[in-house]
Amino acid sequence: MLDEAYGASRFAKTSERLREGRLPASGLSLVAVDSRQLVGTVRLWHIVAGPGSDALLLGPLAVHPHCRNRGIGTALMRRAIARARLAGHRAILLVGDLAYYGRFGFSAASTGELWMPGHFERDRLLALELKPGALAGARGLIGPTGTAASKPDLSTLIAAKRTKERALTRRAA
Ligand SMILES: CC(C)(COP(=O)(O)OP(=O)(O)OC[C@H]1O[C@@H](n2cnc3c(N)ncnc32)[C@H](O)[C@@H]1OP(=O)(O)O)[C@@H](O)C(=O)NCCC(=O)NCCS
Repeated sequence: MLDEAYGASRFAKTSERLREGRLPASGLSLVAVDSRQLVGTVRLWHIVAGPGSDALLLGPLAVHPHCRNRGIGTALMRRAIARARLAGHRAILLVGDLAYYGRFGFSAASTGELWMPGHFERDRLLALELKPGALAGARGLIGPTGTAASKPDLSTLIAAKRTKERALTRRAA
């Protein structure tokens, strides 16, 4: 679904540099399911928004092309924000369209002095403060702080590939 929404170029995005090799924040990987099919997903990741400013990075958010404009993206966003707030997180950053994310309270108001670790479009670097003033004075490089994901060994990768192939064969039958 992510490949369909963003294409293979998603791995080249600067946001990916903050996610690769890390685990998402605990309890903040959400999926939407309809009739036992995955129709939407969003995840949040631990980052530092300049020295001393702990925050979360949201993304990727995607909804299956056949299921768009039914409020699934909105439901995922609202649930993710509520959960992050409940868990005591201070702020959420993302790179995305203000025209979409503005409705959830995101803006570029507090990201002007922050930099992504690679190419990014400044007007698409958005943030939502979960605690008022959480990003006041935030300045510097955004960096990953999530727990490193353990790398699967070769036998696990082979088993996962076989499971995927079996599932595809069953689906095609
Ligand atoms: C963006 C996305 C997650 C929205 O999911 P969704 O379930 O269709 O969203 P919702 O049903 O909650 O909301 C639909 C509304 O968002 C608007 N919308 C969707 N993508 C938008 C965008 N990039 N910019 C502005 N508005 C957008 C729709 O026009 C619609 O507007 P309306 O409420 O005025 O009719 C989905 O379109 C998607 O997966 N897109 C591909 C990946 C992507 O582009 N993601 C990030 C966007 S920066």
